[in-house]
Parts: sequence; C-alpha cells; structure tokens
Amino acid sequence: MACVIVVGSQWGDEGKGKVVDLLTERVDGIVRFQGGNNAGHTLVVGGEKFILHLIPSGVLHQNKTCFVGNGVVVDPAVLLGEIDRLAARGVKVGPERLRISERAHLIMPYHAALDLAREKAKGGGAIGTTGRGIGPCYEDKAARVGVRAVDLTEPELLRSKIEANVAEKNFWLANYFHEEPLSAQAIYEQYLGYAKRLAPYISDVSLELERVLAGGGSLLFEGAQGTHLDIDHGTYPYVTSSNPVAGSACCGAGVGVTRLNSVLGLVKAYTTRVGGGPFPTELLDENGRWMQEKGAEFGSTTGRPRRCGWLDGVVVRQAVRLSGITGLCITKLDVLTGLDKLYFCVGYRLPDGGTLEALPASLNKLGQCQPIYEEFEGWREDITGARRYDDLPASCRAYLERLAQFVGAPLTLVSVGPDREATIVLQDVFAA
Ligand code: GDP
Ligand code: IMO
Ligand code: MG
Repeated sequence: MACVIVVGSQWGDEGKGKVVDLLTERVDGIVRFQGGNNAGHTLVVGGEKFILHLIPSGVLHQNKTCFVGNGVVVDPAVLLGEIDRLAARGVKVGPERLRISERAHLIMPYHAALDLAREKAKGGGAIGTTGRGIGPCYEDKAARVGVRAVDLTEPELLRSKIEANVAEKNFWLANYFHEEPLSAQAIYEQYLGYAKRLAPYISDVSLELERVLAGGGSLLFEGAQGTHLDIDHGTYPYVTSSNPVAGSACCGAGVGVTRLNSVLGLVKAYTTRVGGGPFPTELLDENGRWMQEKGAEFGSTTGRPRRCGWLDGVVVRQAVRLSGITGLCITKLDVLTGLDKLYFCVGYRLPDGGTLEALPASLNKLGQCQPIYEEFEGWREDITGARRYDDLPASCRAYLERLAQFVGAPLTLVSVGPDREATIVLQDVFAA
C-alpha cells in the first residue's frame, strides 16, 4: 500500500500528465484533488498525443480506476466532452472506472461568464485566467451557495439553487459588467440533461479510496497547476483559486494525512508561466525564444504562448518546503540541449543591495527582485535516447546535481522527451 502525490513546483505545466501516466502502472487508483479544467495535462503514448483537463492522467491504462475528488471543480459539459472524445479514440471511460465525488462543486455557465467579465473589466491588470469559471466556482463554494454533484440527483434542490444563483449573478452581469443576463430555466434544463448521463459516475469518493487502501491497494494523487499558483502560497493575486500544494490532497480527496507516503515534485528544467504576474527569471531574449520554440511552450488549455526563463532554484526550493517534496522529477531537460551556457537562480538581489532567499509576499518587492545566477556549461549531445543517468553528459549531470543539492531533495526521475518511454529512473518513487 502506498500513497504518492505528484505536484508542480513552479507555475504549472511541468509535465505532471506525462509522469502520472508513467507511474499509473504501479497503482490501483489515480486521484485529482483540486483545480478543474483550467488544467491541461498532456500524455504522449507511442507518438499519439492526448490532452486531459479533468479526467486523471491514468485513464489510458484500462484496468485502473480514476477518481475526481471533492476538491475539484467540475464542469459537466467539459467532463462529458472528454469522456466522448476518449471513446472516439477507443478509450472507454464508463462509471466502473471513473468516479466523481458527490461533494465536488460544479462549474455553472454563470461562473465562466463572471470570470470572463471580470478579466475584461480589469483590462491591462487582468490575471490572465483560463476563463473557465474556476475562481467564481470556488467563490460560491466558500460562500456556501455552490451546486454540488450530488445536487444533480435532486432536481428540485438543483432548480432552487440555480434560480437563486442566477438571480444574483444576473444582477452583477447586467448592472455592473454590462453583459448579457443568463436564463435560469435554460441552465436547469441543460444540467438535468447532464444529470442523466453523470448520475452513475457520482459516488462517495473518500469511502471508495479508503476501500482501495484497506484492500492493500496504492493510490497516485495528481496535482494540477503548481505551487506558485497556490491561492495561499503563490504569487497572489496572480494565482489560481485552489491549493495545488501537496497538503491539499487530503482535504480535496477525503484521505487522512497519515495515509500519505511521499511527494514527487515536478520541476521543468527551465521556468514557464502562462498569464500575468511576476517572474524574476523571465527571458525576453533569444534564450527565452529557444525555450519557447524547442519546448513548444503553448498552453495546453488556452493555446496561449507561455512566458519562459531560466530555472529558478528559489522557486523550487520553496516548493520543496511547502509540499514536503521527497523526490524530484526533472522534465524537458532535452529542450536545453544546444544552449552554450545555462543560468540557475540561487537568490534575489533588491535595489537597496539586500538579498532574499525566498519569494516575498509583496508583489511590489518581488517585481524588484533581480536574480542572482550561477553559470553552467551547456551540452550539445542529443539526450533524448538516454535511459540511464550515466548516459547524460557530465555538464548536464552537474546542472541537475546542483539543483538537487540547492533545493534539498534527491533526483528521482529525469524526463528527456514527451513520450512515456523517454524517462530515466534514478529511484523507485514507491519505495519511500
Ligand atoms: P502538465 O500540465 O504539468 O501536465 O504539463 P503540460 O502537459 O501542460 O505541458 C508539458 C508539455 O511538455 C507537454 O506538451 C508534454 O508532452 C511535454 N513534455 C513532458 N515532458 C517532456 C520532456 O521531458 N521533454 C519534452 N520535450 N517535452 C516534454
Ligand atoms: P496545469 O495543471 C499553467 C494559471 C492561469 C492564470 C492563473 C489563474 O496544466 O499545470 P484560473 O483559470 O485558474 O483562474 O487562472 O492560473 N493557470 C495555469 N497555468 N498550468 C495550469 O494548469 C494552470 N491553471 C491555471 O494561466 O495565470
Ligand atoms: Mg498543463
């Protein structure tokens, strides 16, 4: 029995989908615990590409159960679309292997409408959200007016909740944002349709997870987003509305903290960020363009170009602290092949000459931080075929080893290509 959590250590898109797919063969169940379809997790198997937004990345393995925990915000239209698209590609995802928590909150059309209206009203100061209604859905959860998956099984309750919410949201949409109001009746009918299809998938996920563990089974928890998009610990307000840190797996899935064994921290070999917000090591030069082009850095959800920069050890070290990361998985190392020199950020310098060893809470201060870099030799050898650590060039290993030493966690996996097979295993993730 083992419970392993996979989390992003930067600003998302570290390659969580690939690694979860790779590790799935070792577990019985794969669990999403926060976020929603703002996530875009890419899997490449035998050259074929799949992008998942809500269904856990273990779904391509036929005999595994995928769980969507209570902490996830679920857009039923997106979920059903994902089920249908997988079916069209020969991956059947019936209720026997996809379970949705009855306590999960549902994203409603007014959430996406408010998300988009707010971003529009913010103009240049926009957060750069994915526009999927994630923030407004979590707001309703906290305000205790949210619609939960279980409500799909009680039509009268569903109707009254939708009517009350639409009355309030329409007031804001029409009077404050000058957008079109929505029809409660149309939304109700739309969601009744979803209810028919989704009812067999809805269950007490916490109880089912307990049964897997009681039977000696193992679970893999799939984080979405990344540590620095965490609503508490990230670069607020340029963050998402959930907690991507590992501790949130307990709350978001209904599993006790004493059940969890280890935390695998995903680290892209450089840094990327989609949307607004401070990014101390951002590169607006040819090195940044190199990462963007060679790394195909376009958002899996919105298609937006991702901002790119050098690897920031301060960012990753903070993630190791916040999530209790026990092992590192470095991804996209192959993207750096061919660069003459690499730079690794080990601290920040402030205009007054002072230095910082952690990200400050003040965004003004973070915006003033100048990275302090260590320089590394690059490598020119093609590393995409490397399957053992010793296959990597010495300069490449020096870069990885300094990272591990600086952030205080061991190297567990190294990914050298998007395909499931393009991976070097240094330690057994499930041995901890
Ligand atoms: P996630 O959101 O953390 O799952 O990451 P995304 O799927 O949004 O973005 C990671 C991208 O990098 C995807 O297109 C992956 O197929 C790709 N990828 C993952 N690992 C590697 C790697 O080691 N090398 C390269 N070149 N691409 C990778
Ligand atoms: P995965 O799981 C990268 C970013 C958005 C925006 C901010 C808030 O694929 O790593 P939201 O729609 O959540 O309210 O947007 O968070 N963001 C992500 N960036 N990867 C993600 O997920 C993201 N999910 C949200 O770009 O800056
Ligand atoms: Mg992604």
